[in-house]
Amino acid sequence: MKRVAVLTSGGDAPGMNAAIRAVVRTGIEKGWEMLGVRRGYAGLLDADIRPFGARDVGGILGRGGTILGSARCPEFEDEAYRKRAVANLETLGIGAVVVIGGNGSQAGAHALFQMGFPVVGIASTIDNDLGWTEMTIGVDTALDIALESIDRLRTTASSHRRAFLVEVMGRDCGYLALMAGIAGGAEAIVIPERELTHEEIAHAIRAAHLRGKTHGLVVVAEGAKNSALHLFEHFQKHKDEVGFDVRMTTLGHVQRGGAPGAFDRLLATRFGAAAAEALERGERGVMVGLSKGKIQTAPLAEIVGRQKPLDLSLLDLAKVLAK
Ligand code: F6P
Repeated sequence: MKRVAVLTSGGDAPGMNAAIRAVVRTGIEKGWEMLGVRRGYAGLLDADIRPFGARDVGGILGRGGTILGSARCPEFEDEAYRKRAVANLETLGIGAVVVIGGNGSQAGAHALFQMGFPVVGIASTIDNDLGWTEMTIGVDTALDIALESIDRLRTTASSHRRAFLVEVMGRDCGYLALMAGIAGGAEAIVIPERELTHEEIAHAIRAAHLRGKTHGLVVVAEGAKNSALHLFEHFQKHKDEVGFDVRMTTLGHVQRGGAPGAFDRLLATRFGAAAAEALERGERGVMVGLSKGKIQTAPLAEIVGRQKPLDLSLLDLAKVLAK
């Protein structure tokens, strides 16, 4: 009988539990013995691993976070620690690991695979910055949360005739900010892939004021060099540049918490099942993702370290629509 372990690593994302459930139950259906690793790669180093039956993953489909726990584990970049992880896996008779996580986690999965250990990854991060895959688990829900907040901020901004700088997550990637900005009707969107100057941002807010808008919304990616805080401090000192009184809100981890929406539950469920199918087909060192609208696998070697490029023409579209 095959023994397969599953772990969640890096920043948690809504839908991770649905993926765990799908991997475990699909594996059990195939006659495999399934195990769960606690706290990501840190759990591999401590052999914090326990059997996972079908009932152990009951009632988690719609639950946020990850029941396995997650961690960032810098030690895993060190080969000596990875050797310890492989030794622990071999001692427990585990023949493969499914890694649910984003860029850093898939880099860890690739490193394990390069040491000869069978691994299949599942794309999961609210940042949607992983190369090759069109969507990752969690980004749709995170976007919904950001949008709900932006919609709420607009009503209070409008009542008080204010401009809001809204900082959204995404690490070095502007995907969440760009999509939230377009879907939220922002006057300006600031992302690391195309930085805007103070003057350009001020111009966008002021133009909205002059057109008679009662609010201004600027969505700023946390990875932008011209950070939301930096902009806020500047506009506090130079109110005349923008026309509106300015406030700033950082959405932060709120975007990562809470229950996954329908899209993420379905995507995670299908990714989880696809990971077990890939293992059964003998695929190793690959990641499950969504490409050309289909759930497929691609080699980790072609994904790791390559951030997905954004469609920057959407920024121009956002500018036109902000009129
Ligand atoms: O990668 C997901 C993410 O939420 C990023 O958007 C953010 O930069 C980072 O994780 C925050 O990490 P932590 O939870 O360790 O503070």
